[in-house]
Order: sequence, then structure tokens, then C-alpha cells
Amino acid sequence: MPADNRGLTITTESTRAAVLLSETIDAFAARQANTGGLLQSALEEDPNGCFANAVLGWMLHGARTTALTEQALSALNAAKITAPKATRREQQYVEALEYALHGQLIMAAKVLEAVVDEHPTDLAAIVFLQSELFWLGEMVWSERVSAKFIDHWNESIPGFPALLAIRAFDLEENNRFDQAENTAKRALALNPADVWSAHALAHVMLMQNRIDEGIEWMASKAPLWADANQMQYHLAWHECLFLIERRQHEQILSIYDERIRNRQHHLCAAMPDLYIDLQNASSLLWRLSQAGVDVGNRWQPLVDVIHPRMDDMSNPFTSAHFALILAANESYSDCESLIQSMESFSQNADHDLAGRYKRAAIPAAKAALAHHRQEHAHVIECLTPALNDLWEMGGSHAQQDIFFQLLAHSTAQIGDRKNHERLLHTIEKQGFVDAAARSVYQH
Ligand SMILES: [Fe+2]
Repeated sequence: MPADNRGLTITTESTRAAVLLSETIDAFAARQANTGGLLQSALEEDPNGCFANAVLGWMLHGARTTALTEQALSALNAAKITAPKATRREQQYVEALEYALHGQLIMAAKVLEAVVDEHPTDLAAIVFLQSELFWLGEMVWSERVSAKFIDHWNESIPGFPALLAIRAFDLEENNRFDQAENTAKRALALNPADVWSAHALAHVMLMQNRIDEGIEWMASKAPLWADANQMQYHLAWHECLFLIERRQHEQILSIYDERIRNRQHHLCAAMPDLYIDLQNASSLLWRLSQAGVDVGNRWQPLVDVIHPRMDDMSNPFTSAHFALILAANESYSDCESLIQSMESFSQNADHDLAGRYKRAAIPAAKAALAHHRQEHAHVIECLTPALNDLWEMGGSHAQQDIFFQLLAHSTAQIGDRKNHERLLHTIEKQGFVDAAARSVYQH
């Protein structure tokens, strides 16, 4: 039976399909833009392959949009037809996918963890699992998983740099910055173009307030990421987080237009509403507006893109950003409708995201709206009780920071210096070094 590049069996009668599927996994782990094309070719070779269809379902689920739910369910059904003849590992991918597509995200993660426990070199399961845990905010859990599999890997196993990158990001999100940096640099020594380890390192530099070093490093490495998937946009967003600290606003606006929200660029043209891109774009425009920059008519195109997705509750952090977009565009009644949709979804006890919406995304969305209306006391009322739960929206410390910035600004606006200082202390507990020195908190 054919196997992937790490020797794990792929059940298919087509050797060519297995080779293409293995290349798909490698490209996916390396965050390369050609991943979807490779998977498509693998499916053309063996349209009924259980593993190929399960991987397709997982990738569609990973796009975190209800627009792709039907396609993901079709992939799941196709995988189930040939599952009885597949290996136990492949069947577990299908089982986990079924949980995920029915809102049982914790169970899905547990099944993937069981796969990784038994097959610690299963790179696809590792990447799917980290992504799932990341968007659940469960980075403590994610680190616990990577601590188990890391020792099963070495340089002779294909995909090692991508694996190191995963470990580095887990370490970084758990504030183990030195280990994260060493791990990311080890990956980059093996593959200087590795996107996810560059990303982990960018996070470390931001958390440690290494602004000038971050600007120089990101600018010098950006050409290496041209073949990456939309992570290249997210890395450009990270570059802008450093530039904001140096108030390089004109430069940020050109990076926004060219490398973060360029509708002519092939990735953005193919999927203009990808959730992470909308998060990048809106949180950067918000930060610029907050710094007093006129961002022109850049909000409206984001509003146009999110309009068909007002009832899409596939990612709490994205929904909170939709609120930022609608509030910034002064589309207040749409923003209120969005919050209502979020509230009715949060009553749905059968979905693992329901409670996360309730405890984190809804307070954040309400605060975004109140902040734009300059109702600063209301911002404090919404966010303060939710402060310890915001991690449940998913996303990194660097991304979640926008809601801390919003609260810090409102606290300063009403002149509550004591609470402002207490908040800076909370922000430092998130892992940010010397919060008071950062321009985004100086009001
Ligand atoms: Fe990031």
C-alpha cells in the first residue's frame, strides 16, 4: 500500500494519487499556495479515496466559512463510503471531521490528538489539530500536544522545519519566548523560507517589544514568502504592527494596499472573504484610525464582502472583527443585527462555539460598537467582565490585543488612570513586555 513521505499508509489503488496527496500535506504544512491544486490533482487520480476526501473536508472546514459547509459535508460523505476499507488512522480523520462539521470541535480535537498520540509523525493531523486548537483559544492544550510529539521527530524526517514551526508557535503563545525563538530559528536554518516559523519569530519579537529589529527582519525576509498561501498577507500585517509602533503610517497604508488587501493579487482575488484576511485588514485599519490616520474609503469594500456572511458563526474572532468593520463604517444597525445573530447562535447549546460567542465574542463585538459611538463607559461595562475570557475567541495574543487596546483607550478617555494602569498590568500578564512603552497604549 502506498504511504506518505513519513511512511504512513494512504489507502488508494493509485500510486500517483498517494504521491500527490503526500505532496499536498507537505505543501499544506509549509503554508504554500499550491496546496489546493495538489489536492485537486490527487482527487482527480482517485476521486473516491477516503483519505483524500477527509483531507479535503478538513481543509474546507479550516476555511471557517459556512459558504463551504455543503462542500465539506459532501467530502465527508465521500470519505465515509470508502472508510470501511481504509486504515484506522484514516477512519479517525473521518470521525474527527464528522464531529467538526457538526459543531463538536472539542471532540474533533480529541480524536485528532488520539491520531497524533499513535502516529506522532502524522504531519497533516498535527497541522489540522493546531489550527483547531488555535481557533478555540486552546493554546495550552496545543503546547501539551506538541510537547508529546516533538521528540519523535528529527532532521531526517521530511517536513521537520514545518514541524519545528508548529512547536515554536505553541511555545510562543505560552510565553516561552526564548525556547520559541530557538525553535523557530532552528527551523529557519533548515528552511529559510519556512513561513510558519517566520511567523512564530515575528510574534516573539512583537511580544518582546523588539520593534526596530522586527521591522528590519520582516522587510528583509518578505521576498521569501511569495509562494506562501494567505499567510503572506498575515506576515505583512505583522510587519505593520512593528511599523505602527514607529508611526510609519504612510508605509503601512501602502503595505495594506499592496500586500494585505490587494484585490488584484491572485490569492485575494480567488477568495476575497477569507476570514484571516478580513481579520488582518480590519484590525490594521482600526489601529490606524486609532492613531489618527485617515484610512479613506478602505472600510466600505470590507463591509461589502462581509454582508453576505452576517449569519456566519463559524469563528467567534472573525465575528468580533465584523463588528469592528460595521461600527467603523458607521453601519450601526447592521452591527446591531450582527450582534443579534451572534446572541441567537450563542443560545445553541449543541455547538462548541456557542459558549465562546457568549463569553468572549459578543462582549467584544458590543464593545467595538460602543467604542465607535464613543460610549466609553459602555465599552468598559462590556469588556471588563469578559477580560479573562477573551482568549476563548481564538487567535493569538497579538491579534486579541486589539480588544485590550480598545478597552485601554476607553478607560483613558473617561480618565480612570487607576483602571488604565491595572489594565496595562493585565496586558503584561498576557505576555507583552513593557506594555506602557508601546505607542498603542499611550493615550
Ligand atoms: Fe500572527
